[in-house]
Amino acid sequence: MNKISIVGAGRVGEATAHLLAVREHAREVVLIDISEGAASGTALDIQETAPILGFDTKLTGSDDPSLMAGSEVVVITAGVPRKPGMSRSDVLETNLKVIDGIVGNVVKHAPDAIIIMVTNPVDVLTYHAWKSSGWDRSRVIGQAGVLDSMRMASFVSMETGFSIKDINAMVLGGHGDTMVPLPRFTTINGIPVRQFIDEEPLQQLIQRTRDGGAEILALKQNSSAYDAPGAAVAEMISAMSMNRRRILPCVAILDGEYGQSDIAMGVPVVLGQSGMESVVELDLDREEMGAFSQSAEMVLADLQKI
Ligand code: 2OP
Repeated sequence: MNKISIVGAGRVGEATAHLLAVREHAREVVLIDISEGAASGTALDIQETAPILGFDTKLTGSDDPSLMAGSEVVVITAGVPRKPGMSRSDVLETNLKVIDGIVGNVVKHAPDAIIIMVTNPVDVLTYHAWKSSGWDRSRVIGQAGVLDSMRMASFVSMETGFSIKDINAMVLGGHGDTMVPLPRFTTINGIPVRQFIDEEPLQQLIQRTRDGGAEILALKQNSSAYDAPGAAVAEMISAMSMNRRRILPCVAILDGEYGQSDIAMGVPVVLGQSGMESVVELDLDREEMGAFSQSAEMVLADLQKI
């Protein structure tokens, strides 16, 4: 890619920018933040790792949203993170206001971009960005499922001792307490995870996955996770930048898939250079479908607040 912009030079924005640069996913990465100093300082700090890390990506930082012009992808990370004890929904009102102005700027300055929403509550804000942009759903997606699946895969690796390289996990639904980790679609080199993990430890790691963000927040106290979220965004961009057409769980606007419409939630999608090519429908059993519908109700409850 030529250019990727990241709006929000906080910790998630910084982690994302650094990985995009190191992996040379674009010639240019622009960090935009209402604090000009935070954006340009972060960009310069990352740029100065290039002599050791050996990347040619150019980084700039600014408070000027017009610098996102020409971006193929705009990642939105701006907003306030939750504090310990809060749910992601508790920051909806504040972050909605932040997002409104940003989406307006993306539409104005980068009308051909693909938006990746990261700010929480990500399902609702992805929906809101889609609605207010007026864009096709293929170009407005959210990051959640890649992160949640990374967490589940990490816990499977910790439990079994098997290499993370062989583990594929799948987590769908809303990015909240009702997310839907799917052990039936979680494998170790193609072998269903239940062959290696008994039901009780499996249920424990499923719950740990649901609580994954809160676990980090409770440990760090003054910060949400940012390394793993940044890696998740970089993975989505990697799928697009080479038109790899990877199947990754992302927040997508649903149009009848999984029995849901006019809502954004985590589902497996085909990701390529044009964004979300299509939603992949898994053959969920009754219990899995029930959990997905319950998760949809939670997202809808938040959607009704906007
Ligand atoms: C997380 O799950 C902050 O939602 C983010 O860590």
